[in-house]
Amino acid sequence: MQKLIVEGGKRLRGEIRLQGSKNSSLPIIAAALLSRGECVLRNCPELSDVYAASRILNCLGTKCSFSENTAVIDSSSLNGSEIPEELMREMRSSIIFMGAMLGRTGECTVSVPGGCELGPRPIDMHLAAIRKMGVDVRDSGGRIVCRALNGRAKGAKLSLAFPSVGATENVILCAVTAEGETVINNAAREPEICDLCGFLRKCGADISGDGESRIIINGKQQLHGCEYTIMPDRIAGATYLSMAAAAGGEIILTNACVQEMEPFLTVLEQTGCSIYTNSDRIYLRCGARLKAPPDRIRTMPHPGFPTDAQAVLMSALTLAEGTSVFEENIFDCRYRHADALVKMGADIQVMGKIAVVRGVQRLHGASAEATDLRGGAAMLCAALAAEGVSEISRIYHIDRGYEKIEEAVAGLGGKAVRSG
Ligand code: UD1
Repeated sequence: MQKLIVEGGKRLRGEIRLQGSKNSSLPIIAAALLSRGECVLRNCPELSDVYAASRILNCLGTKCSFSENTAVIDSSSLNGSEIPEELMREMRSSIIFMGAMLGRTGECTVSVPGGCELGPRPIDMHLAAIRKMGVDVRDSGGRIVCRALNGRAKGAKLSLAFPSVGATENVILCAVTAEGETVINNAAREPEICDLCGFLRKCGADISGDGESRIIINGKQQLHGCEYTIMPDRIAGATYLSMAAAAGGEIILTNACVQEMEPFLTVLEQTGCSIYTNSDRIYLRCGARLKAPPDRIRTMPHPGFPTDAQAVLMSALTLAEGTSVFEENIFDCRYRHADALVKMGADIQVMGKIAVVRGVQRLHGASAEATDLRGGAAMLCAALAAEGVSEISRIYHIDRGYEKIEEAVAGLGGKAVRSG
């Protein structure tokens, strides 16, 4: 199993071009199933989760190839509607293929993607919403068999109990070719939802209100292919900025989505880092010891502080002057990285959804196992700031979301070598 051997304690300095967004690419790849022409996706990150999505496309008879961050998808030869259980399990967000398959063929057979590192990941809201859209959903020997009555889903007025990103995406995917109008109230407002809608509009879909809580979709008979550039990855951006905040130094992110990163940048600025932005660049300088932010860092749906950036920011704040308090409001088990940070010398106390981080003067190298994608990235941030050598194992978690992370770190002057 591969590991990262990290030599910490060096200030970071350099420039890095942000990869395309993982959380946009996955639903957009699923959305390509809806079009009967060729879709060309530029700035598509080459990640293990993206490859897992392309294996799902292949098993449905769709052609998909990758070259230099461009994915070409042609689903004109689609000939299946059943996704095998092992492919569903490979990637937690495989459930977004449900809406896309229903939109294209009016039927699909999937399975529950299973619990994950962040705790149970129910899909009750996804299923309740598609049922309201005239889809019959049955459990058949552990498989979920969905069939739209008369072969086509029907538009409906829906209200989500929570602005779930995945449920909003599934409804949008099902609704763009459904009969009539769909209204989603309390929809997720994440920038990746807008990116998905941007892609679908280019394929001919009629969607308005994305980025707000009420999305309105008028179903079309058919969508066509298009060329689309996937937005930059705001969470990878938060990760590289957290590395520099933790280790100290001066870095520039290019191809960045500045506006979409605002909720994260606002908190990072409170720690005393100097941050300058222009249209697609973020410059960060961290010369002195960080300060704990004055307020609790509460993870919330967008435009609140993103849960995916909680772990990496926590790494940086382990070294801050004062006490930082986190409140995790999205997932139940999202502090699993804390033990590894404590092993590196951090002072963190977790009590349910609260984590109290008392800043220490220094961290030291240690061996750690990545527990999940962002938790693994947080361990890397801490290892880069720590004195001595750290070894991070189970880095397949990190590879799910970061493109060639060791090269990115090297571009910032840090040292993380992949071994094994
Ligand atoms: C997406 C992101 C993930 C991010 C999360 C929150 C992708 C591929 N993943 O995940 O990186 O951390 O949004 O911003 O885009 N819930 C239910 N029932 C449901 C659906 C969700 O109870 O039917 C709960 C979940 O357990 C969780 C909360 O709602 O506690 C938010 O989940 P959701 O917004 O759906 O996250 P994902 O789409 O899975």
